[in-house]
Parts: sequence; C-alpha cells; structure tokens
Amino acid sequence: MRFDDHAHSYDQHAAPQRRFAEALAAFAPFHLGDRVLELGAGTGFLTNALLAQGASVEATDNSPAMVAIGKINAPTAVWSVRNAFTKIPPTPAIASSGLLHWAADPVAVLKDWHDALPKNGRLLLGVPCDPCLYELRDLMGEGPLRWRDETQWLQILSHARFEVKAHGVLESEEIYPSAIDLFRALHGSGVTGALRMSPGTLRALIRDYDRLHPKADGVVATWAWLLVDAVAL
Ligand SMILES: C[S@@+](CC[C@H](N)C(=O)[O-])C[C@H]1O[C@@H](n2cnc3c(N)ncnc32)[C@H](O)[C@@H]1O
Repeated sequence: MRFDDHAHSYDQHAAPQRRFAEALAAFAPFHLGDRVLELGAGTGFLTNALLAQGASVEATDNSPAMVAIGKINAPTAVWSVRNAFTKIPPTPAIASSGLLHWAADPVAVLKDWHDALPKNGRLLLGVPCDPCLYELRDLMGEGPLRWRDETQWLQILSHARFEVKAHGVLESEEIYPSAIDLFRALHGSGVTGALRMSPGTLRALIRDYDRLHPKADGVVATWAWLLVDAVAL
C-alpha cells in the first residue's frame, strides 16, 4: 500500500470506500457530544459522517499527507499522525473503516484497541471482507493481503474480547469503463503496492478481466465491507 504517496488522488478514486464509511456511520450512529478516536481516518470520509452526528472526533492516520488533506476536508475534527497498530491512548470510543485488514496480526491490534477502551466502550468497525474484489483476486492470485470472510472477522473480534452487538456485510457492484480503469482507481487510491508482474502479464490480465467480467457500460467489480458495532468486554 502507498497511501501517503497517493493521498492527493485518494478522494477521486475512493468512491466505494466513501460509501462504506458513510454506511458504517449510519449503521450504528454516535450521538451529540460523544467522544470518538478515529483510526486510519484517511482524508475524512467517516470523520465527516461522525461529525455530522454531533460527535467530537479525534481523527488520526499514520500518513502525514492523508492527515494534511483530512484537516482541509474535516476541519472541525482534531487531527494528528498516529500509528494505529501500536498501543493507543485511553479513549471512550473507537471508529475505523478500511484499516484493520492491513494489520499483519489483527487480533493483537484489536487487543490493544480493547485495552484503550473502558468496559462497554464502543468500537465501530468497517473492514473489507470476502467476496470483496474476488474477480480480480481470482485472476491475480492472493497478494500480500490476507482476505477474510465475515465469520473469520467475527472470530477475531471475539478473540480480542469484543462483544458484537450488530453486524452485517454490505456488498455493492462497482462498474468501471474497463479493467484498466479499475486498476487506475486502485492505484490512485493507494491500495496497490509495488507491481509484482511484467507489463505483458498485466496487459494479459486486463484483457482477461475485460472478457470475463463485462457489464453494460464496462466491467464489474464486487466490493464488500463488514460493518460492526461492538463493545469491549
Ligand atoms: C483505505 S484507507 C481508508 C481511509 C478512510 N478510513 C476511508 O474510509 O476512506 C486506509 C487508511 O489507513 C491508513 N493506515 C494504514 N496503516 C495505518 C496504520 N498502521 N496506522 C494508522 N493508519 C494507517 C492509510 O494511511 C489510509 O489513510
């Protein structure tokens, strides 16, 4: 992932992430005056949805470039650079969308988040899950990221001693003019790392994708996000 390098083009290429962040906030709203620490806030999609509910948001991200843009997009949040995968300070509630799947050991990270919360402190979590982008993964093979399904994520939350109050998987079909536009969107949003294939292999992959996943007006990619409202036990 190269979020810091692509922070300037994230908003333009992250339409699904924006919709999932807004759906997450609507799924289990905070209330006027609630204090929330947001982790991996990016450019502020979820931040703005939480602020609109009247929450007081401390928005954090480990990318300085993302934080700089977040300060412009959501100026009433308090922004800072923070690595969410190390110990975090005590907080009454945590919110995060599109971050935890990047952790090498999500149980360990969630245990740290759990320890920062009081008993019954809230965790509002959005995380991409299987079948997200399965069309692409079927063609490319699994990358460095380990994809988990709903059941696996719920087990991880349970191991980290969170009680899930409500959850659901939101799936959407995103249409791109062609597979190359899907690649451009993923690249422009910073989610791709160094290219692991030759230009020829990439061209063949794009041709295969166009052939295998056509839809009126382009090609289709499935996106899926697990939405979780949980409390620390
Ligand atoms: C897919 S973006 C999601 C951003 C935002 N939450 C949204 O919904 O649009 C993932 C974000 O997590 C941040 N990130 C990645 N690893 C992180 C870490 N260890 N600590 C804090 N933020 C991290 C990236 O910089 C990026 O802004």
